[in-house]
Amino acid sequence: MDGADPDRWSAVAAGWAELWGSFAEPVWRAVVAAAGIGPGSWVLDVGCGGGDLLGYLDRLGAATAGVDPAPGMVALARSRVPAADLRIGDAERLPWPDHTFDLVASVNAVQFADDTLEALAEFVRVTRPGGLVAIANWAEGRHNDLDAVERAVAYAAGEEPLPDGELREPGGLERLLADGGLDVVAAGLVAVPWYAPDDDALVRGVLLGEDPETVAGTASTVRDAARPFRQPGGGYRLDNAFRYVVGRTPR
Ligand SMILES: C[S@@+](CC[C@H](N)C(=O)[O-])C[C@H]1O[C@@H](n2cnc3c(N)ncnc32)[C@H](O)[C@@H]1O
Repeated sequence: MDGADPDRWSAVAAGWAELWGSFAEPVWRAVVAAAGIGPGSWVLDVGCGGGDLLGYLDRLGAATAGVDPAPGMVALARSRVPAADLRIGDAERLPWPDHTFDLVASVNAVQFADDTLEALAEFVRVTRPGGLVAIANWAEGRHNDLDAVERAVAYAAGEEPLPDGELREPGGLERLLADGGLDVVAAGLVAVPWYAPDDDALVRGVLLGEDPETVAGTASTVRDAARPFRQPGGGYRLDNAFRYVVGRTPR
């Protein structure tokens, strides 16, 4: 689906939360540890989706804010994390004043911004001087079992698989932060396995946002491509990885 279309994300908000919402928790933990986030921290999540990371931060005692261009995502996040300051907006135009947050984080979202450097400049603008910016996204395809399934789906549709993109490659996130004038203080590769309890969840998860005709026509391709990842007790485990970077803004 078109990841830059807020209506498409609104339509799949509940499905995203059910199937994918918390799978990136290992990278949340890495970012929170690197950034020293805890009670009293003031954190913004950009592209917050259904609010899973916000809920995690809220449980740690941080004060939270979230922004997402998809109204359906924001509504879901609001219902799940009532204490968060939630707004509709995109990464390139953040609706908060300068120097507001201790940490601005964005997980699996910044790749949808029209201009990544412009988005990063906004992250820096709303972070306090000497505060932190953290970005995390999928690692390059060779680390991800999901990539094998998505490639099979693309070939079945007569399409070429999408290239990885610079932000997914080793050093890509670090270069972005350096280009934005930040000092990199932490970076890493984190395993983020994804579990589907049965065939139905596997197909819905991989084809989230596709129309019912496409899902019906592609389900067997997904099941076949995922066969190597079947678990003895049932369901599927796809081993994947995210890269993250944490950078300090100028004082
Ligand atoms: C793959 S989901 C990830 C959601 C959440 N961060 C998570 O990890 O579960 C991508 C999210 O990015 C949002 N998004 C798309 N374009 C965006 C933009 N230009 N700025 C900020 N968020 C955007 C979508 O609406 C969607 O909620």
